[in-house]
Amino acid sequence: MNTKEKILIVEDEFIVANDLKMILKKGNYNVVGIASSAAQARTMIEAKKPDWVLLDIILKGNETGIDLAKELAEVKIPFLFISANTNQSILEAVKKTQPYGFMVKPFREKDLLVMLDIARYRYSIENQEELKPEQAEQGTPFFGEIVGQTPAIKEVLNKVSIVAPTDTSVLITGESGTGKERIAHALHNNSCRKNKPLVVVNCAALPLSLVESELFGHEKGAFTGANTMRTGKFEQANGGTLFLDEIGELPLDAQVKLLRVLQEKEIERIGGNHTFKVDVRIIAATNRNLEKEVADGRFRLDLYYRLNVFPIELPPLKNRKDDILLLANHFLVKFNKANGKGITGFSNKAQQQLLQYNWPGNIRELEHLIERSSLLATTHEIDFIELPKETESFTETASGELQSLEDMERKHIMQALQASGGKVFGPGGAAEMLKIPPTTLYSKMKKLGIQQEHY
Ligand SMILES: Nc1ncnc2c1ncn2[C@@H]1O[C@H](COP(=O)(O)OP(=O)(O)OP(=O)(O)O)[C@@H](O)[C@H]1O
Ligand SMILES: [Mg+2]
Repeated sequence: MNTKEKILIVEDEFIVANDLKMILKKGNYNVVGIASSAAQARTMIEAKKPDWVLLDIILKGNETGIDLAKELAEVKIPFLFISANTNQSILEAVKKTQPYGFMVKPFREKDLLVMLDIARYRYSIENQEELKPEQAEQGTPFFGEIVGQTPAIKEVLNKVSIVAPTDTSVLITGESGTGKERIAHALHNNSCRKNKPLVVVNCAALPLSLVESELFGHEKGAFTGANTMRTGKFEQANGGTLFLDEIGELPLDAQVKLLRVLQEKEIERIGGNHTFKVDVRIIAATNRNLEKEVADGRFRLDLYYRLNVFPIELPPLKNRKDDILLLANHFLVKFNKANGKGITGFSNKAQQQLLQYNWPGNIRELEHLIERSSLLATTHEIDFIELPKETESFTETASGELQSLEDMERKHIMQALQASGGKVFGPGGAAEMLKIPPTTLYSKMKKLGIQQEHY
């Protein structure tokens, strides 16, 4: 949990109250007080502003927990009853106050924590709904610029809205260019950490020797070249969110260290001699199939379990056909603005082309194609889109002869370059799609005579 949630206990029996307090503390809640009467509870509520109130029914004085519940409802502080009293008429009165739960004494520790957990979950969803119209009024869509209306993306956004306000680790999977990073931003921006940093680490871009110092920082003199102390990404993200992009690329050694930090919630800079606590929410993303990586021994199972608490899988664009034109128009407007163009839309033909293509590079590829088409357009409409050829049989030439390996390789590489919008290395780059190192791709391109104007 991030900042611990504040709970007020309203209970007249001291021993029961103390017991509750111990359980809640163990469950990582912050017990801000114990009140034995309604009057005392009012003062504490005023002073401590609890997030939740646990209410007993019979209290000291002549007011009951039910009286207090009505006031809590008015000031919108959620509450739960804990009582040994299950008398029918009292239960009827309790129901009318619409509590987030009722626990019959005696109960087990686990019962209470589970009830609270479920109540908090329901509360976070209800409050989210309330936030939406207000944010819409301010002109900021709830999920930033996540364009899409198909059931596939709606399901994703629903998951985002459920998990965003919590501190749960999220693992975002999906093909390259499906919007994983964008979803990571949406998760952060819709959490209570939104005013704290979102630190992005691209695990694929970290040289092996620097992974640990990047993540955990180092002390001055920790190794040759460490001339100054340096804070790592975990420290920089303290209080906020750490987005571990391309987590599938993290070397096994670093996986062990990462797992330790996630378990202990504390870090130690390299060369340092003390550990300190960090409060960081983890979002990880990968376009690899992590289960397969685990099966092949390239990814630790224990780390996989830690990260995969709440998986969100992004659908490939070809499975979101109804979003294609919506996204294409969205990008058209964006590039109109950026390039001072006034293109109004797509011809029927162009629309058909967009719908029939299978988008191996997903939204990123669409974005690049629209950018290019919009720059090239000479009329008020985009009437034709130059798509990479994918219909042509890959192994045979037009005359039916087998193609040479070299020709096939050339075509395959060009297709990848077109899908990546010309990007060779880095996330979404052609080298990644072809699963070869960028240096190998460059030398192949040179050998096959592929130059930028070809793709
Ligand atoms: N729903 C969306 N609406 C509008 N634009 C989007 C949407 N999803 C993604 N994009 C845009 O598509 C491009 C690719 O998205 P993003 O970088 O998030 O993908 P990714 O899954 O992280 O890709 P990779 O695996 O290659 O890193 C970005 O320019 C992003 O802004
Ligand atoms: Mg990405």
